[in-house]
Amino acid sequence: MNFKSLILAAGKGTRMKSELPKVIFEVAGKKMINYVIDNVKPLNPDENILVIGSGAEKVKQAVEGENVVFALQKEQNGTGDAVMSAQNHFKNYSGKILILCGDMPLVTTDSLQKFIESANDYDVAFISVDMENPTGYGRIVRDINNNVIKIVEEKDANPAEKQIKEINTGIYLVDAEVLLKKLNEINNDNAQGEYYLTDIVSEGAYAFKADNPDEFIGINDRKALSIASKILWKQRAEKLMQQGVTIMDFEHTYIDENVQIGKDTVIYPDVFLQGNTEIGANCIIYPGVRISNGKIGNDCEIKDNTLILYSEIGEKSTVGPMAHIRPDTVLKGNNRVGNFVETKKSVLGKGTKASHLTYIGDAEIGESVNIGCGTITCNYDGVNKHKTKIGDRVFVGSDVQFVAPVNIGNDALIAAGSTITKDVPENSLGITRAEQKNIEGWVSKWKAKQKSVKK
Ligand code: UD1
Ligand code: CA
Repeated sequence: MNFKSLILAAGKGTRMKSELPKVIFEVAGKKMINYVIDNVKPLNPDENILVIGSGAEKVKQAVEGENVVFALQKEQNGTGDAVMSAQNHFKNYSGKILILCGDMPLVTTDSLQKFIESANDYDVAFISVDMENPTGYGRIVRDINNNVIKIVEEKDANPAEKQIKEINTGIYLVDAEVLLKKLNEINNDNAQGEYYLTDIVSEGAYAFKADNPDEFIGINDRKALSIASKILWKQRAEKLMQQGVTIMDFEHTYIDENVQIGKDTVIYPDVFLQGNTEIGANCIIYPGVRISNGKIGNDCEIKDNTLILYSEIGEKSTVGPMAHIRPDTVLKGNNRVGNFVETKKSVLGKGTKASHLTYIGDAEIGESVNIGCGTITCNYDGVNKHKTKIGDRVFVGSDVQFVAPVNIGNDALIAAGSTITKDVPENSLGITRAEQKNIEGWVSKWKAKQKSVKK
C-alpha cells in the first residue's frame, strides 16, 4: 500500500502558555516533533508532509536534515483546515494519507504498522483507545450495534457523550481522494468555530481500537508534558534493567533515548544521562550527576553532583564529587579528578591525578602526573587562550600557577606555591618563591602594643 504521512504541527499550543510552538517542547530529552517523525520513518511513507504555522521557523529548525516537505497553514483554523492547507501534496495522489498529530510523541512504530495493516480496506480509518480519564479528547459515538457514527469534541459533547471513555487518538488513515472530498464538505459550525478534522469520520468509518492508552497521550499542557516524560524515562530504565544495569530508583532517573550503559553499572537516583552518552560496564554513577554526551569507560566511579559535558573518561577513573568536566576533556584512564576540579579542552594521561581544587584548561598532561591542590593553568591573557604542556611523571606541588604558554619536561618537580612563567626542563626543579623571613618575638610585642592602644 502506498501512503504519505501528514503531520499536524501548526497549532499554537495555547494551553502550554508559552512563546514557543508546542511541538518543539522536549519530552524526556527530545522534541515532540522529532519523536513523531522518527516513529513514522521506519514505515517508509512516499513522503512526509509537515503542516507548520505557529512558530514555523522554529519547527523547521527542529526538523532540519529530516526528509520532510512543508505545508504552511496561514491561520490556525483547526485540524481540518490544517490538513486542507497541505492539499497540494496529495491532490493528485492515488494512495492513502496517514494523518498524525505533532503533539503525540509516544505512539510507537509498531502500533502504526498494525493500524495500517488492519485499516487497508477502508476509505476512512482512525485509531481509538479507551482512556481512564477521557477529558479533553474527542469521544467516539457508536450506535446500538456498536458501529461508529461520529466523533464529538469535548466542548461540543452533551453530558451522556462526556461519559464515553473511548477517545479519538487523532491518528487517521484516509484515501487521498476521499480525504479531499470530505474536507470540502466540513464546516466550522461548532463550539470552537474551527474546521474539525474529526468531521471526516461518519458512519462506515473504521475504528482500530488500540490497547495501550499511554501511547496516545496528546500533549496539550505542561502536566501532560511531565506525564509523558515520566512514561518514557520509566520505559528506558526498564529496558536498561533488563540489559543488566542496576537502577536504584527508576522513577528518579532521567535517561535520554540514545544513551548506552554497560552491564553491572549502578545508577543512583537523580542522575541525568543526556545526548549520546555512553557508559561502560561496572561503573557507579552517584546521585546528582549529569552527563551530556560523555563517554565513560569501564569500571569508573562518577561521584556525587558531578557535571560532565562532551568529554571522555577513560576506564578505572574516579571523578568527583562536585567536579566540572567541560567539553573536550580526555582522561586516558586510571585517573582521579576530585572535588572542585574543573577541566576544559585538556588531556590527562594515564594515571594522572588532580585530586582537589584545581583548574585545568587548554592543557596537555602526560602520564602519572600529580597535580597538587589549588593548581591553576592560567590559560587566558584577556585576548587569547594558551596551552600548558606537562610531561610524564611530573610532580606539581600545591598552589601552583602555570602561566601559559609554558612547557614542563618529563620528571620535573614544581615546588608548591610557584608561579611558573618559563619552561622547566626535564628532571629539573621549578621553584619561584620569595624567601621566607622569621621575626622572632614579633607577635607578643605586637599584641602588647594593641592592648596599650585600647586603654
Ligand atoms: C484533537 C482532536 C481530538 C483528539 C485529540 C487527540 C480535532 C478537532 N480534535 O484535539 O478529537 O481526541 O486531538 O490528541 O481534531 N493543529 C494544526 N492547526 C490547527 C489546529 C491544530 O496544525 O489549526 C495541530 C496541532 O499543532 C496539534 C494537532 O493539530 O499537533 C492537534 O491539535 P490540538 O489543538 O492539540 O487538538 P486537540 O484539542 O488535542
Ligand atoms: Ca492535542
